[in-house]
Amino acid sequence: MTQTYVRLNDGHRMPQLGLGVYQINGDTATEQAVSAALALGYRHIDTAHAYQNERGVGAAIKKSGLAREDVWITSKLWPSDYGLTVTPGAIDKMLARLDTDYIDLLLLHQQFGDYVGAWQAMEQAVKAGKVRSIGLSNFDGERLDEILAMATIQPAVMQVELHPYYQQQALKAKLAPIGTRMESWYPLGHGDSALLNEPIFKTLGQKYDKTNVQVILRWHLQHQHIVFPKTTNPIHLRDNFEVLDFELSTDEMAKIDALDKQERYYHVSLAEAEQRFGSWVPAD
Ligand SMILES: NC(=O)c1ccc[n+]([C@@H]2O[C@H](COP(=O)([O-])OP(=O)(O)OC[C@H]3O[C@@H](n4cnc5c(N)ncnc54)[C@H](OP(=O)(O)O)[C@@H]3O)[C@@H](O)[C@H]2O)c1
Repeated sequence: MTQTYVRLNDGHRMPQLGLGVYQINGDTATEQAVSAALALGYRHIDTAHAYQNERGVGAAIKKSGLAREDVWITSKLWPSDYGLTVTPGAIDKMLARLDTDYIDLLLLHQQFGDYVGAWQAMEQAVKAGKVRSIGLSNFDGERLDEILAMATIQPAVMQVELHPYYQQQALKAKLAPIGTRMESWYPLGHGDSALLNEPIFKTLGQKYDKTNVQVILRWHLQHQHIVFPKTTNPIHLRDNFEVLDFELSTDEMAKIDALDKQERYYHVSLAEAEQRFGSWVPAD
């Protein structure tokens, strides 16, 4: 199966479909999952300092024998690494963990801490060639506006919870004028069976000889979402990549759009998130 790409607002060409490695525990399991994905043709891995498995990602890419420029690496800075004077060192440590000279896409993971200083440091890292594209995760409201107002490089992506039950129409509309691409986390509702078993997915799966999950992933791709479902199951890994050979009609897309409940799975207010995560420092 060949890849499909999206063009970011900074000109870089990004594989639209990848593997997310959140909750793949440890570098060994991560290296195994990423190696299996690369062997199937995946060329995009989404990790984060907070996932504590960047070394496993880097090792799998090195051992794959693929040219570095043929694999897209996204990682994310945790708030403990935010700040104009703190973030540059954190980026260098991230490069060392990933065993690479540059990161394709670097995101601010959460909207608290010195995110303004961190954004400025990421812009400097782009100029220094250590990072190619920069973006945000989990930003909204005033803190998003603050970044948009001060940024000299506008965010290339926004990574947020996004799936058929929670379609993020307002955020999408807000970011469309600056060309920021939407990235879907929890693209499968974190595996929620109510979402995966919606009758429309079964109907369309039967029509196209695809699984329910493949129909959901196809819906994301046709909406131009960048998507990286997590799995360590070899059958799921293969199935999740075999979504490039069929196309949902406009009417079928609309039927899935109609599932929007504007309701997320991950209910944590900004204050709660700040309290829960604010003092956590991931190991180097
Ligand atoms: N920026 C953020 O704050 C943030 C937050 C959450 C996630 N993310 C990113 O988004 C990625 C994806 O999110 P996620 O892992 O939480 O949720 P997800 O991809 O929506 O769902 C993962 C669940 O779906 C199951 N699954 C995967 N493929 C399947 C298939 N073909 N058939 C049936 N079940 C399948 C997996 O189980 P098996 O392993 O058994 O297949 C797992 O339980 C993460 O890995 C991470 O990279 C980012």
